[in-house]
Amino acid sequence: MRRTIVHEGAEQLTYEIREIVTVAQKLEKLGIEITWENIGDPIRKGEKLATWIKEIICDLASEDKSYAYVSTQGVYESRLFLANEVNKRGGCQITEDDIVFFNGLGDAVAKIFGFLKREARIIGPSPAYSTHSSAEAAHSGYEHLTYTLDPEKNWMPDLKDLENKIKYNDSIAGILLINPDNPTGAVYPKAFLKKMIAIAARHRVFVICDEIYSQIVYNGARTCHLSEVIGDLPGIALRGVSKEYPWPGGRCGWIEVFNQDKYPDFKRYIKSIINAKMLEVCSTSLPQYSIPKVIGNPKYAQHLESRKKIFEDRANEAYDIFSRVEGVTVVRPQGAFYMSILFDDDVLNENQHLPIDDPAVQEYLQTIVKDVHVDKRFVYFLLASVGICVVPLTGFCCGRKGFRVTLLECDDQKRKWTWETIAKSIKHYVESE
Ligand SMILES: Cc1ncc(COP(=O)(O)O)c(C=O)c1O
Repeated sequence: MRRTIVHEGAEQLTYEIREIVTVAQKLEKLGIEITWENIGDPIRKGEKLATWIKEIICDLASEDKSYAYVSTQGVYESRLFLANEVNKRGGCQITEDDIVFFNGLGDAVAKIFGFLKREARIIGPSPAYSTHSSAEAAHSGYEHLTYTLDPEKNWMPDLKDLENKIKYNDSIAGILLINPDNPTGAVYPKAFLKKMIAIAARHRVFVICDEIYSQIVYNGARTCHLSEVIGDLPGIALRGVSKEYPWPGGRCGWIEVFNQDKYPDFKRYIKSIINAKMLEVCSTSLPQYSIPKVIGNPKYAQHLESRKKIFEDRANEAYDIFSRVEGVTVVRPQGAFYMSILFDDDVLNENQHLPIDDPAVQEYLQTIVKDVHVDKRFVYFLLASVGICVVPLTGFCCGRKGFRVTLLECDDQKRKWTWETIAKSIKHYVESE
């Protein structure tokens, strides 16, 4: 072709959480039964959406309005409801015009980074959630810029690292944080969030806070929403129904925009995001209609409480199993539904292995373990040996070696089997040289 047609950022679009699926499917064809531990979908892992929520959705499905387009920013009453929820917290006050609906946060993230000036960079956490890091890297054409989350300090951001990176790189226009965090399960206390906001204020950058797990906080942790600490700074909070109802297939998320009227340039940027949505007309209407009826329902608080308890118990169960394994370090999760298991330095090498009986599986494995990070190598062996599909930490823009499990399996026996089998496999692998 006379012109190259590949975007400069094309190589940056990676999503290990789903890429591992290709390998797992190949092994499935070779007869391995796969236990899917790679993706954060509670429904796929056996959770049943509460009947009263299903009834609300069924009722909406029988109304004609649910089949029509809605306004570009989203259903008016739902935006009004959500703005009111933000204002009730007493922090930054917003209106329905500061809420924009998307087809899931995946859509929101693509637009947030896609319509940012190319030279304007957003610094995000490492380990990173791949949708953010890939979108930011693809937008800039460079590797994603990151600050370190420190496992020695409950995976809290290293604030010195963050501030230094912002100070010495004036292309950084914003800070991204995920609270509660994926993949670490960390939850940032209010005082800590204030320190991050103070850094943003000192260097005049805006803040993006992914709050998709904000209602999944447990083990005594306390946090708050971005709206409660943002003060006068420009900011965007990201929320959605995927993890909360949970309804990931509904593809419904929204942004809450703070202080756009105080910063003309920020307002123009938000306008460009809304205009991009306008080209698509609007996001899917039915899940939006459900929001005041579900989140505004008196049963919702109890619904959230019971889910917190479930994840707390599972987090502690996983912690008890993995904290006894030599060669790895774990931090007890306090939010979301993931846990990162970190290999201690120099524990992994390229000579370790797990037993694999089938020669065809062995042969395939040999073709994929060449030149991969040592944690990915372990993950491939685990997959080929016992069929458990987890995600290597190096797939999360992270130099540390480890992997992520989810706390989502609803079958108690299966969950226990999965974690105990991983624990045994770590031991075998590490001792296999
Ligand atoms: C931190 C974080 N943000 C956003 C998403 C995606 O949300 P959605 O289903 O709304 O696209 C996920 C999904 O796992 C996530 O972990």
